[in-house]
Order: sequence, then C-alpha cells, then structure tokens
Amino acid sequence: MPPSSPIEAFALKHARLIELERIAEIEESARLQASLSPAELEARGVTLLRLKVADERSGLGGRTLLVLEPTREGDLPAHRFQPGDIVAIRPAKGSTAGAATATAVVYRVLPRRITVALDVDPDEPFDEPLRLDRVANDVTYRRLKEGLERLRTYTRGPAARLRETLFGLRDPQGDAPRPLAALDASLDASQREAVAFALAAKEIALIHGPPGTGKTTAAVEAIRQAVARGDRVLACAASNIAVDNVAERLAAAGVRIVRVGHPARLLPSVVERSLDALVEAAEGTRIALDVRRELEQMRRNSAVRRRARSGTPSGMSCAACAPRCASSRIVPCATCSARRR
Ligand SMILES: Nc1ncnc2c1ncn2[C@@H]1O[C@H](COP(=O)(O)OP(=O)(O)OP(=O)(O)O)[C@@H](O)[C@H]1O
Ligand SMILES: [Mg+2]
Repeated sequence: MPPSSPIEAFALKHARLIELERIAEIEESARLQASLSPAELEARGVTLLRLKVADERSGLGGRTLLVLEPTREGDLPAHRFQPGDIVAIRPAKGSTAGAATATAVVYRVLPRRITVALDVDPDEPFDEPLRLDRVANDVTYRRLKEGLERLRTYTRGPAARLRETLFGLRDPQGDAPRPLAALDASLDASQREAVAFALAAKEIALIHGPPGTGKTTAAVEAIRQAVARGDRVLACAASNIAVDNVAERLAAAGVRIVRVGHPARLLPSVVERSLDALVEAAEGTRIALDVRRELEQMRRNSAVRRRARSGTPSGMSCAACAPRCASSRIVPCATCSARRR
C-alpha cells in the first residue's frame, strides 16, 4: 500500500535508510573485530590494550568516573578515542566476543590518561589489565528511528501544525511583528527585526545569514523574550557545541536553564547546568546517593566473599586483594587469611 501522505513517505523512506546504515556500521565493526588482532585494532586507534585503573571517583551527577592509564610507563599509544564516544571495557585477556564488563562514555582524554563515565557500576572489581574498545553506537540509530516513528504517527497535539507546515502542507501563520524592547541593547536593527519576526510567528521563523553575522545572538534574545513573556522554551541544535553555545549565553544572561545531555559531552562551563548536576544538587539526592553507595559497597563485598570462597580472585595477586578482604572484614580470601594467620 503506498504511503498516505508525504510525511508518511518521508518517515518510511528514512527509517529504511537509517536501518541500512546501522546494519552497515555494525557489520563493519564486527568485520574489523573478527579480522584483526587486538594489536592491529590498537594500531587502528579503535582499541586500547593493557590499561589499569589509576583512579576511581564519583562525579558527573553521581556517575563513577574511571581514570585509566597504560600499565607501562609513558603515554597512551596514538588512538581515535574522543570525549562522548561509547566504549566497552573488558579484561585484556580473552576475546571480544564475550559481553563487556561495563560500557561507558569517554569523558576526558589526556596524553597518558583516559577518563570514562561508567553507565552502571559493575558488580565485581575490574580484572586488570583492561582493554577499551570503541563500539558501534546503537543509541543514535534507535533515537533517530523513534523520532521518525513519532513524526509519522503524530497527528494531534501542540506540534501538529508545525509538522504540517514543515512539510509544506500548510502555510506558516504569524501576527504582525511588534516593535521590540530588546533585553540585549547591543542588537542592531536587522537582529531586532529578526527577533520581532520570530516572536510573532506561530509555527516557524527562519533566521538566515552568512557566518558570524549574529544569528545565535538573535536566537538568544528571542529565547530571553519568550521566557520573559512566560513561555517554556526547548532550544536544540545539530551539535552539542552549538547547544552549549546558546546555553552559555543564556546562563550568562541569568536565564534559568537545564541542559539535557550526557555530562561527558558538555562544555565544562555548562556541566553545572546539566540535568544530572541539578539532580545531584537537589535536596534529597544526597540521601539517595548515600543509600546507593552503601548498596554498591554491599554488592562489592558480597562479590569479594564469593571470590574468597574460590580462592584468590582471578587475575589478582594477593597484594591486590588483601586490602579489599581486610576492609570487608567478613570472609578474607584463602590466600589472605593464610597470610594473616
Ligand atoms: N549587534 C552586535 N554588535 C556587536 N557584536 C555582535 C552583534 N551581534 C553579534 N555580535 C558578535 O559577533 C560574533 C558572532 O555572533 P553570533 O555567534 O551570534 O553569530 P552567528 O551568525 O550565530 O555565527 P555562526 O555563523 O558562526 O553561527 C559574536 O562574537 C557576537 O558577540
Ligand atoms: Mg551561531
């Protein structure tokens, strides 16, 4: 059956194309993993081998930040890891076929160190040495497809007119622009005109201009004006850095903003306005975090006990497990208890 509207046709066609792209990316990544040795993957910059945990701390809205560095002296080998990449953490020994010990997002990259924000804390301590693999990012595809499906099936609601206007099924509507009492006194006449036009538009207003001519400055003024008249505004852009740019300027103007997005992908100046940071600072969160930490500690202790029953933990020397066994004060592993006796 042919699609019943241009919107449906657009959504179905792009969903198909996105699925093809996703399959191709997964195949490419699997082909690479299967056909290349760990050393070759490392040479291509998509894997880092022989890492150890240099530091582990809490940050970024309660997430655990793991600082990894080479087990040997010196810097990390040349690689293509960047802040925002999704990575799998695994023991360096063994194949990549098994499930990852943990998945994380790269937060910071330094010559010798790479810091990652764990999605979920693992049940057991990491089995060093570790390897880090860049993995195909399925989340982006899933979100794109969900977005297209919502576009296809959305017929009623506040964005229905916008949807039809964007697809040329309806002409954009707007009131006559009213003279602007600008909040930013430095705006020139063309920017004031653009902001007044945007505020009067019902569905859409397009501000177009050559690079560096003040479009973002005008958009920030339009947002401030909309907020001042009581609107709630969702500001989005094609890249994180473009959203951060707007967020920084709005924050500087004293607008109450919440930056949605993974904290590891945000500019440092905007992180404190991120949803994660605001939740962390909220009343009650401290108590919830304390409870969570206690639960995590209990989970780790019980993992140590399980390992203790089967002797020295795999891949750990007694020197490494002794402090953990001692601090858990419950059942020291066989090697530690032998040593203490
Ligand atoms: N009316 C103005 N008077 C003086 N400086 C301005 C004015 N409007 C913008 N600027 C400055 O010009 C520079 C570029 O502005 P802005 O970032 O708003 O431009 P843009 O069109 O969004 O740029 P891009 O194309 O790179 O996204 C900034 O430094 C901004 O502070
Ligand atoms: Mg801009």
